[in-house]
Amino acid sequence: MGPSGSGKSTLLHILGMLEDASEGEYLFQNEPVHKMNDKKRTQLHRGSIGFVFQAYHLIDELTVYENIETPLLYKNVPSGERKSRVADILDRFNMVAKKDLFPTQLSGGQQQLVGIARAIVAEPAVIFADEPTETFILTRRGRSWNCLQS
Ligand SMILES: Nc1ncnc2c1ncn2[C@@H]1O[C@H](COP(=O)(O)OP(=O)(O)OP(=O)(O)O)[C@@H](O)[C@H]1O
Ligand SMILES: [Mg+2]
Repeated sequence: MGPSGSGKSTLLHILGMLEDASEGEYLFQNEPVHKMNDKKRTQLHRGSIGFVFQAYHLIDELTVYENIETPLLYKNVPSGERKSRVADILDRFNMVAKKDLFPTQLSGGQQQLVGIARAIVAEPAVIFADEPTETFILTRRGRSWNCLQS
């Protein structure tokens, strides 16, 4: 919570290891994130963090299916398991019919859903979500919020 421009997204990006803090210390699972190089931090991010961006940040050149699959590729999940995990999430989010579309062919709410699906598909230790609920609670009756909580 906090007014626009107060630094909420910046703080979440630092906690999600997407940005470096200019000062201070950050321990994640007892590991000093502030002392890690970019490579180590990216590894930790990919292994442990799911991030739902305020502005979705989907990859326009990839389909819905491929966007959701990306974190599993980073984690070297075998192809059979990737297929079943992505299929399961598409089903839970009622997006099966949209799987071969590109992000620009989706509504804003649907893009946000894909962003959430991508954040949770690899079952990360922690999920950071930057204001993800406004559209959902109104248009999806909290369905993805339930997924986020589960
Ligand atoms: N890449 C950047 N370079 C320079 N300044 C930035 C950058 N990103 C954000 N800022 C500045 O940092 C401040 C905090 O931005 P941030 O996005 O964290 O705010 P916020 O609290 O998430 O706002 P909102 O509620 O509008 O999403 C803003 O004043 C913004 O202009
Ligand atoms: Mg913000």
